[in-house]
Amino acid sequence: MSIVFLNNAFLPMEQAKISPMDRGFLFGDGIYEVIPSYFGKMVGFTPHIERMQEGLSQIDIKLDWSKQKWREVVEQLIEKNGGGNLGIYLHVSRGTDSKRSHAFPQNLEPTIYAFTFEIAAAINADKTKTKTYKVSATEDLRWKRCHIKSTALLGNILHFQHGFAEGCNETLLFNAKNELTEASSSNVYVVKNGVIATPVLDNQILPGITRMILLDILAKDSTLKVEQRIVTMDEVKNADEIWLTSSSKEVAPVVEFNGNPVGNGEIGDVWLIAQTLYSAGKYNY
Ligand code: PDD
Repeated sequence: MSIVFLNNAFLPMEQAKISPMDRGFLFGDGIYEVIPSYFGKMVGFTPHIERMQEGLSQIDIKLDWSKQKWREVVEQLIEKNGGGNLGIYLHVSRGTDSKRSHAFPQNLEPTIYAFTFEIAAAINADKTKTKTYKVSATEDLRWKRCHIKSTALLGNILHFQHGFAEGCNETLLFNAKNELTEASSSNVYVVKNGVIATPVLDNQILPGITRMILLDILAKDSTLKVEQRIVTMDEVKNADEIWLTSSSKEVAPVVEFNGNPVGNGEIGDVWLIAQTLYSAGKYNY
């Protein structure tokens, strides 16, 4: 049975109830996080909590929880749910109102919800055992605040579904200038002649924690060159390798783009180096 955390209590998921007047339900007015944990070892706990605190402050939700308080809740949640390969979902909405009003009501208690879900085992950087991705492309039609990890994900799920309906397991997004932004639930990288390129951080993409960790590890430990810059549709089409990153995917190789093989259609050698380094270094964050 899955145990969740809701407003200061741990309880079975079936017993967790929130009001339909919660602004998270009515407006998607909230911030969320997903933190990966492999048998009790979390990846990026501190940067994940800091990104959530930054997001809450950007949308003016006041919550005075320290990192230590979050850590205690998360560690208990992991333990109560068996401590295997878990994604930890954290969600803070502005709270429950008595009416539906666009204006932020004053003095609402934020609603705090957390649960765990099973994720794939940590990747062992083995080309024969790693899940591969087929992706399609579409115009990024989301809002201009994609750096905020908002619970209002309708834009993202519509984009995901667009690819999913065509047999893909992720959708790459391009802005009106045909420049790569990110994917519906991941950051994106291309590799050409051994050089890795990924879009710069701005309001068009989420500052992924996996991205931050990977780029830091590559900068410190590797001879691989990484560029953060504009990446065009042509570069994506002609890439030797395409990767995705997210907390539940780690570094994920893409083998098909819009029905065509990426490079030779196999997982690339640069991916192997990058995921090997990521696997070795990820717990240091
Ligand atoms: N998705 N971009 C988007 C739009 C995302 O939703 C995510 C994560 C990422 C990668 O961020 P990170 O490395 O911090 O997980 C990039 C999460 C996992 C989700 O919505 O389930």
